[in-house]
Amino acid sequence: MSVSGRPALPALLLAVALSSFCSATSGDEARNRLLMREKMMRLGGQLVLKPEEELANQRLGALKEAEMQEALRTGSIPPSMHFFQAKSLIEKSAVFNILKKMPKGAALHVHDFSIVSVDWLVRNATYRPHCYFCLTPRGTPQFRFARSTPPTLNTTECPEWVLLEKFRKGLPNITEFDHSLLRNFTLMTENPQATYANQDVVWAKFETIFVAIGGLVSYAPVFRDYISQGLEEFYQDNVLYLELRTMLYPVSTLLGILDDPLFLGYVHTSLRSAQVYELNGSVYSPEWSVRLYEEVARNFAKEHPGFLGIKLIYSDHRSKDASAVTKSIQTAMELRAKFPGMVAGFDLVGREDTGHSLYEYKEVLMIPASRGFELPYFFHAGETDWQGTSADRNVLDALILNSTRIGHGFALSKHPAVWAEARKKDIPIEVCPISNQVLKLVSDLRNHPAAVLMAAGYPMVISSDDPATFGAKGLSYDFYEAFMGIGGMTADLRTLKQLAMNSIRYSALSEPEKQFAMATWAERWQKFVAQLARGPK
Ligand SMILES: *[C@@H]1O[C@H](CO)[C@@H](O)[C@H](O)[C@H]1NC(C)=O
Ligand SMILES: *[C@@H]1O[C@H](CO)[C@@H](O)[C@H](O)[C@H]1NC(C)=O
Ligand SMILES: *[C@@H]1O[C@H](CO)[C@@H](O)[C@H](O)[C@H]1NC(C)=O
Ligand SMILES: *[C@@H]1O[C@H](CO)[C@@H](O)[C@H](O)[C@H]1NC(C)=O
Ligand SMILES: *[C@@H]1O[C@H](CO)[C@@H](O)[C@H](O)[C@H]1NC(C)=O
Ligand SMILES: *[C@@H]1O[C@H](CO)[C@@H](O)[C@H](O)[C@H]1NC(C)=O
Ligand SMILES: [Zn+2]
Repeated sequence: MSVSGRPALPALLLAVALSSFCSATSGDEARNRLLMREKMMRLGGQLVLKPEEELANQRLGALKEAEMQEALRTGSIPPSMHFFQAKSLIEKSAVFNILKKMPKGAALHVHDFSIVSVDWLVRNATYRPHCYFCLTPRGTPQFRFARSTPPTLNTTECPEWVLLEKFRKGLPNITEFDHSLLRNFTLMTENPQATYANQDVVWAKFETIFVAIGGLVSYAPVFRDYISQGLEEFYQDNVLYLELRTMLYPVSTLLGILDDPLFLGYVHTSLRSAQVYELNGSVYSPEWSVRLYEEVARNFAKEHPGFLGIKLIYSDHRSKDASAVTKSIQTAMELRAKFPGMVAGFDLVGREDTGHSLYEYKEVLMIPASRGFELPYFFHAGETDWQGTSADRNVLDALILNSTRIGHGFALSKHPAVWAEARKKDIPIEVCPISNQVLKLVSDLRNHPAAVLMAAGYPMVISSDDPATFGAKGLSYDFYEAFMGIGGMTADLRTLKQLAMNSIRYSALSEPEKQFAMATWAERWQKFVAQLARGPK
C-alpha cells in the first residue's frame, strides 16, 4: 500500500466537491474542465438533481465520505474484502442502511433457484411432513417428498432414503444437523480463500448446491411458497419488479450437470426426470410452472402495494448439446407465444468457461429469426477472466445475436469495438458484483471491470445473480459494492438514481408497463429522498 498516495485522496474528495460547485476560482481551469468532463461522462452524470435531491445527496455524501475516510485510515474497505468476510461489516454501514431503504426499481438478473435465503429452506421446507432425505457417498444431501419411501434406483448414488422427521428424532443435536444443511445450501464459509482454491472448485460446489436443493424446491407446495417468499425478500429490500431466469422445471437443471462427467455420480438417477412434482409423484409441465409464477405474483401484488410483478426468462444449461437446446428454443417460442406478457425471452446459463459458446449454438439461435418469430435474448456473456477464449467472445455473439441485455458482460471492457457497437444499440450489461467476486473472477471489487464502464457512462443495471447462494439478500448488498467499490469516491445519488431508473428502462416491460413502473418508482423515490434530506429523526 502506497503511503505517498494517501494524503492525495482527501484532496481529491475536496476537488470533486469543489467541482460540483463549478468553482473555477482556483485557476486550475484545465484541471477543472477535465474533472467536469468526466463528471458529465459517468453513469448518472447528466442527471440534474432537484433541490431536495441535492440535500439528500449531501447527506449521503457525508456518510459515504466518513466511511471512506475510515477505510483510508485502516487501509481496507469492505469491497476489497471477500463478501463472506465483509458481510457483517457492510451490515453495520450507514450507507448500506440507506441503500436498503432506497427504491432500487427492478432485479433484472436473478435465478429462480436462489432468490430465497437458505435458512427458510431449512426452517420451513425441510420441516414439512413427508420429506425424505438421503446422503450421497460424497456427502451431498438429496431430498424428495413422497407418501412412502421413494424407490432406491441406484444404491451407490443414494443408498437409503430416510424420513427426515424420523431421522431428526434420532439425532443427538438437531441444531448441528440443520447447520450442516445450511452449509450444503450456500457457498458461505469462514475462510473462502482456503475452501475455494480456484474457479473449478467453487463452481463444482456451486452447481452441487442446486442438486442438493432441487428436490426440496421442486415439490409443488414448497415451490409455490418459495416463489412467494422470494418476492417477499426482494420487496422488503425495496425492489418492485423481477425478471427471473428460470428452467421452469427446476430439477432439469440437473440434466445439464449430469451430462458433465465431473458431476456424474452426484445425483440420484430418480431425479433425472423430476419436474415440479406432487406427493403422489405426478409432475407438471413448464406451462403449469409459468401459470404458477403468474398466479403467485398476482396474489403477491394484491397484498403488497406498489409491487409490479415478474417476468420469466426461460433458460437452458449451456452444457447441453445443440439438439437439446433446439428443443428448448422450441419450448421458449411456444411459451412466449402463449404467455407474451409473462415469458420475456430466452437465455443460456451455467459456467461459460466449460460450457458451449454462443457461437457454437449460432444455427440453433437463428431459428426464431429465420421463422420470423421474435424471441428476445438475454444472454449471459463474458463471465470469464480468460481473454480471447470462446467464452470471452460470447460478448461478440451476444451483440450479433441481438441480445436485449448482456448478463454480466464481465469481459466487455476488453472489447472496445463490441462495447462501442453495443452502446450504440443501447444494450446494457447486468453487473452482479458479489457473484463475480465469490465465483473468483475478481477479488477486490474496486478493480471490477464495470468501474471503467461506469466511468464512461455505459448503460448498466446492478443485480444479485444468486443472492441466497452467496449469503446475500435482495439487491442492497450488490448496490453497496457497486456504490462504494466499483463507483469509488465519485459515485453519488445521481449514480444510484440512474441505476434504479435503468432497471426499469432496460427491463422487458412493455412501454405502458414501463411508464407505470417509472411512476410507481418515482413516487417512492421522492419519499425516500425527502426522508434522506430531512436526516435522522
Ligand atoms: C412454511 O411457510 C408456509 C408459508 O409461509 C407456511 O404456511 C407453513 O406453515 C410453513 N411451514 C413450516 C413447517 O414452517
Ligand atoms: C448443538 O449444536 C449447536 C451448534 O453446533 C451448539 O451451539 C449447541 O451447543 C449444541 N447443543 C448441545 C445440547 O450440545
Ligand atoms: C452436508 O450435510 C451433510 C448431512 O448433514 C453433512 O454430513 C455434510 O458434512 C454437509 N456438508 C457440508 C459441506 O457441510
Ligand atoms: C450407479 O451409479 C454409479 C455412479 O454413477 C455407476 O457407476 C453405477 O453403474 C450405477 N449403478 C446402477 C445399477 O445403475
Ligand atoms: C396427484 O395430486 C395432485 C395434487 O394433489 C392432484 O391434482 C392429482 O390429480 C393427483 N394425481 C393422481 C394420479 O392421483
Ligand atoms: C439480429 O438483427 C439483425 C438486424 O435486424 C437481423 O438481420 C438478424 O436476423 C437478427 N438476429 C437474430 C438472431 O435475431
Ligand atoms: Zn446469472
